[in-house]
Amino acid sequence: MTDIKLLAASEDHLEAIMVLEHVCFGNDSWLEETMRFELLADHTRYFVLLEEDKLLGYAGLSKIPGSEQADVQTVAVSPEFRGRGFGRKLMDRLLAEAKTLKATDIFLEVRADNLPAQNLYETLGFEHIDTRKRYYQPDNVDAWIMRARLAPSNKTEPIVLGIESSCDETGIGIVRGNTLLANVISSSMDQHARFGGVVPEIAARAHLEALQPTLNQALHDAKVSMQDIDAIAVTNGPGLAGALMVGVGAAKALAVASGKPIYAVNHLVGHVGVDVLEGDLELPTIALLVSGGHTSLLLVRDLLDDVTLLGETIDDAAGEAFDKVARLLGLSYPGGPAIDKAAASGDPKAIRFPRGLTLPKDMEKHRYDFSFSGLKTAVARWVEVAEAKGEDFSMADVAASFREAVADVLTAKAIAACNDHGIKRLLLGGGVVANARLRELASERCAANGIEMRIPALSLCTDNGAMIAALGAQLVMAGRAPSSLEFGVDSTLSVEMVQTV
Ligand code: KG4
Ligand code: ZN
Repeated sequence: MTDIKLLAASEDHLEAIMVLEHVCFGNDSWLEETMRFELLADHTRYFVLLEEDKLLGYAGLSKIPGSEQADVQTVAVSPEFRGRGFGRKLMDRLLAEAKTLKATDIFLEVRADNLPAQNLYETLGFEHIDTRKRYYQPDNVDAWIMRARLAPSNKTEPIVLGIESSCDETGIGIVRGNTLLANVISSSMDQHARFGGVVPEIAARAHLEALQPTLNQALHDAKVSMQDIDAIAVTNGPGLAGALMVGVGAAKALAVASGKPIYAVNHLVGHVGVDVLEGDLELPTIALLVSGGHTSLLLVRDLLDDVTLLGETIDDAAGEAFDKVARLLGLSYPGGPAIDKAAASGDPKAIRFPRGLTLPKDMEKHRYDFSFSGLKTAVARWVEVAEAKGEDFSMADVAASFREAVADVLTAKAIAACNDHGIKRLLLGGGVVANARLRELASERCAANGIEMRIPALSLCTDNGAMIAALGAQLVMAGRAPSSLEFGVDSTLSVEMVQTV
């Protein structure tokens, strides 16, 4: 079930929608031109349900600005996928959207002879209020008009518990709306030190041991009990599969035992969403996420519905490069802080290390992608050669030059993304954001390009449960339906999939 996506529809989906439209509605199908207009109109909201790239269904509503009434325009599920709850998922999404648009009532029409659909709508709160005689031709079938009243949720600030276990941090966070109540982290980093990198099996075992005490501490810090929690959010990807499974298993157990709704959320989007805990998250924004596990450039137009991956590392993550280079220089793990410290007294211009994927030919195909493995090899070669020659080189210069190369590429590509898209905002996240030179260069280059830079507090940049809770709270406040308990983990979950429904 993990690869089912519910996304805002775009013109890219039009072709598949028209195919399904004909399958579902035959001669009553809309014309392609009408469908395109409805998909793109300002007063409509359309959504698609996809499995991989296959369209399972779509649905849309309209709401005229100024009116308090929303109308379901269409709900279609491919015949081979009926009876699996997909119609309900689409309807849940429409109801949430209608609430977001501040509609007080939502209407729909359904064939008088379509009992399964009527039953579904009734369980969603619709009632039969009127009948249009012989509305559906040529079969002479009546249309039922059904209406649901949309009570604005009176609880505007839900208390959400967030569970993060995608890598080596067991994070439990608790938020009330956009307010942070607790952020407790238990890291297994020390246990990985002698291996020079995170060992998945060790991380998973450590999560299992740390979860309960970390949860207790978070409840204690937030001064709440499990009864006060309105919803549970958990990372279900991307990350280490075994590690993710521990957090997801725990979250499901808590949800079942407490009867609370559960939201399966995307770790990477959590790194962006965490910014709501530090004031308004201004959108659209470009986001650069750099840690031991990921190096990604995102274009975020809407936190819950429109996150695009512009580029990512094609080999090592930036933090991983720091860890590997530190190891070959004989510095301690994690490598980032050790290199930062060593670099402080070095000359960043001493050695010109390569900047991955920045040659003109690479920039065509990989404009926003990163590569750090060549850089790591270049540092290793340089040290080997210097040692072979018996040269007395400066470790500080090597560290500073390496750090400069990483900071240069990261910031250059992030700024290019901002300029190319005309978005004068850059949000940084992930553990590598602690890097002194990266912060300095990013702030210099942002200032030079008129770009506003945001960096959440470091405790919110490194992996943590508060970011998962914060993203979960956004979903709850937007009226999104919880995830079904069938979701699994996905170590390569796409950033576009904010919530696994
Ligand atoms: O986000 P994070 O805490 O955990 C995950 O990777 O999931 O990031 C940890 C990474 C490590 O690779 C570490 O070496 C790197 O962030 N890091 C740094 C610095 N502090 C931590 N890298 C560069 N400079 C730093 N000061
Ligand atoms: Zn992370």
